[in-house]
Amino acid sequence: MNGTLSTFELSDRTAVVAGAASDIGTAIALRFAAVGANVVLGDIDETRLAAMMDRFGDAQVRVRTLRTDVTRRSEVEALVGLATREFGSLEVMVNLAGVIHDANVIDTREADLDRVLAVNLKGVFFGCQAAVSAMTEGGSGSIVNMASLAGFKPVPELSCYAMSKAGVVALTKVLATEVGSSAIRVNAIAPGFVEGGMTTRRARRSDGSIDEELMDATRKRARRNPLRTTGTPDDVANVALFLASDASRYLTGQVLHANGGSYMP
Ligand SMILES: NC(=O)c1ccc[n+]([C@@H]2O[C@H](COP(=O)([O-])OP(=O)(O)OC[C@H]3O[C@@H](n4cnc5c(N)ncnc54)[C@H](O)[C@@H]3O)[C@@H](O)[C@H]2O)c1
Repeated sequence: MNGTLSTFELSDRTAVVAGAASDIGTAIALRFAAVGANVVLGDIDETRLAAMMDRFGDAQVRVRTLRTDVTRRSEVEALVGLATREFGSLEVMVNLAGVIHDANVIDTREADLDRVLAVNLKGVFFGCQAAVSAMTEGGSGSIVNMASLAGFKPVPELSCYAMSKAGVVALTKVLATEVGSSAIRVNAIAPGFVEGGMTTRRARRSDGSIDEELMDATRKRARRNPLRTTGTPDDVANVALFLASDASRYLTGQVLHANGGSYMP
């Protein structure tokens, strides 16, 4: 790589991705591996984690996976522990495990509220805690948390999700003020509609197949932004790579809005 592009390299660094089995997580892990990072991948979905391993075919890096429920602090610590034990240090932590629940505030059951906050907010909190401990020992690091456009722009029926993602932004900023002097940067990405993953949920039939007509209607609504397009997992992975690498060495406590211009803070 030439001098300019080398600031995006992650050679000899270790990255943990929590929630890696998602489309976005997979894209991020592959991007990081392509620029030299050893990656440690955690997710509650063991089947998809195992299936991901084939995708790293040519990458000259090492990949480890661990079934991880991010709502359990001990499991998040074990994920980070695997990274430091196997590779000696942790330089990058991506916290992106997430769930969504569609219901009006008035109809939301306590169990659904608890589940969304446990995964999206407490899970990210635990990921930040574990990462900061490891990165403080190593002397520096970059934490990337997954927020969402929904945390900024109100959408009916997404209260639990929106609250959790707004909380992720607050956590990101507070932690950035606490750990900056230890050379640890903490930033967030707030994507708009990204193809795949949870955006397909409303078009899914009971047998798991996708109603393409309904999906197209959803996509059409999502394209009502200045760029007239939707995002891809690779679009988010590129932003994650920027935040993970030295290319963003002067950024902390920031939210990057990858949303086609749907929302401009
Ligand atoms: N797709 C979008 O349009 C979009 C937009 C903004 C933000 N996001 C965020 O990006 C992230 C990935 O979303 P996606 O659309 O790829 O969805 P997805 O449903 O495919 O991914 C969510 C991932 O989190 C994992 N997960 C759920 N509960 C977990 C737990 N307790 N412990 C560990 N892993 C757990 C799932 O197994 C899955 O791999 C989420 O945080 C989501 O909120 C997505």
